[in-house]
Amino acid sequence: MMKIIRVKDQVAGGKAGFKVFADALAQGAQVFGLATGSTPISVYDEITNSDLDLSEKTSINLDEYKGLAADHPQSYHYFMNEHLFSKKPFKASYVPDGLAPAASETKCYDQIIADNPINLQLLGLGQNGHIGFNEPGTAFSTQTHEVSLTESTIQANARFFANEAEVPHFAYSMGIASIMQAQQILIMAYGAAKADAVAAMIEGPVTEAVPASALQNHPDVIVIIDDAAASKL
Ligand code: GLP
Repeated sequence: MMKIIRVKDQVAGGKAGFKVFADALAQGAQVFGLATGSTPISVYDEITNSDLDLSEKTSINLDEYKGLAADHPQSYHYFMNEHLFSKKPFKASYVPDGLAPAASETKCYDQIIADNPINLQLLGLGQNGHIGFNEPGTAFSTQTHEVSLTESTIQANARFFANEAEVPHFAYSMGIASIMQAQQILIMAYGAAKADAVAAMIEGPVTEAVPASALQNHPDVIVIIDDAAASKL
């Protein structure tokens, strides 16, 4: 079941997303799946400025670039430290180790998720319908895996790097099956560039060509979108 919340912009989406997060916490959520990218920043700002206490909670991030150390300024671990963890620490925060070998890291990460079942998973949406770093064509049965990024994702993420040549071409990501295990999922999307992906996610067929369409099969999904992202619904 998908519940859709329309907001006017990303700031309003941050407030709506914060309410979902705070409600889950009030209902006893212990483990939060977290996402990077520009989309969740407004939720993290609301959390940072709130009096929520996360010091006994656990977070598990979706993905990390392969080859980047946690202290690399473009790593997702660095992003999380900067936007959330340094200001609102959790008891434990897991992000895939971009420097670890793929076979051991993906196995280890699946074990972390199994040991800490995610109550609420936050997600952004890629322009091509990807979630985490699960690109179109990823099998819905996939757990944590090494992924080869598509050209469109590399280009979309190049704005964070000095130039496109510096964007890593591989990443470690929770798979679609890992994401679908979460008790509740909050996916957010803002801006016209996401409109096609939003329409395909909500109204299109459930197909591995659109990773986010898998969410139609999840029992508890909240979608927060602004008017521009909703324009093709
Ligand atoms: C990256 C991340 C995704 C994110 C997507 C969208 O590819 N791996 O988790 O959802 O970008 O990013 P943004 O929120 O900046 O549009």
